[in-house]
Amino acid sequence: MKTEIIRELKNCDGYLSGQELCERLHVSRTAVWKVIGQLREEGYRIEAVRHKGYRLLEVADVLTEAECQSRLQGFRMGTPVHCYEETDSTNIRAKALAEAGAPEGTLVTAESQTRGKGRRGRGWVSPKGEGLWFSLLLRPKIPPYKAPMLTLAAALAVAGGIEDVCGLPVQIKWPNDIVLSGKKLVGILTELSAEADQVHYAVVGIGINVNISEFPEEIRNTATSLYLETGKRWMRCDLIAAIMKRMERCYQAFAEAGDLSALRGEYMDRLVSVGRAVRILSPEEETDGVCEGIDEEGRLLVRKGDGSLEKVISGEVSVRGIYGYV
Ligand code: BTN
Repeated sequence: MKTEIIRELKNCDGYLSGQELCERLHVSRTAVWKVIGQLREEGYRIEAVRHKGYRLLEVADVLTEAECQSRLQGFRMGTPVHCYEETDSTNIRAKALAEAGAPEGTLVTAESQTRGKGRRGRGWVSPKGEGLWFSLLLRPKIPPYKAPMLTLAAALAVAGGIEDVCGLPVQIKWPNDIVLSGKKLVGILTELSAEADQVHYAVVGIGINVNISEFPEEIRNTATSLYLETGKRWMRCDLIAAIMKRMERCYQAFAEAGDLSALRGEYMDRLVSVGRAVRILSPEEETDGVCEGIDEEGRLLVRKGDGSLEKVISGEVSVRGIYGYV
């Protein structure tokens, strides 16, 4: 009922009478009053005026099931949604839900993570209420070798969603970091359950530094947040809803084609290293070249000094700008 009350209040320009709400939702006045009280406790500013009714003045910056559902009605991505106050890692929670049979599109969010996971076994700093820490469960019918493309599609959706809300020209550092002003704003960690020729499920874990005002010393030079870049605090619910809507389209485009052919152009427009000198670091060697973009399978195209074109597969290597992080 919370979801419906939020939705009714948002859809109403002025006041919505208690009577009207009760009739629309088939509940008692007391029940409505109770939910209004809960919403106020969560931080929503709701005015109540005698003989007029309720009016929503301000939406709270909370990640709750009701707030997410009220924005994602009719979308496959983000339904159902599980919101934790604190959890170990949303990826761990999403994997447990996947094993228990949760459907594709299941979204798991947390206000804070105690064991946030980054790539290459690293941790991920996830302070309470200051970022978007979430995981999306997908069940694509693809062989495992295609899974990195899924992460690239997700990166594109996240970049688009951030731009929709904040209007910032965010870029992608291949394969799936999102950068702003040359610093990392978003990290993505995809975890798979698969057999040799078939993915059972993929959990795409996304960490966005939204309202973080200070980073630990060791990442201060390479990490940034939307707050640090704009001086403004951003509503995390606006961001997650915009990202899920973008993801709906990006995922479908990838699933239909079985590759990134429909998304390649858009991805290249956001790719920070196009036309720049890059260094490919693999356990065996370092190779320098100039980045020419990606192909439809998401491989990075790097023109080497001898004129040959190297197609770099993500996961095996890391790519650096010759002069710094990007
Ligand atoms: C990276 O190292 O760049 C990937 C970071 C991914 C962090 C996110 S936060 C939400 C989800 N849950 C996790 O434990 N990790 C991912």
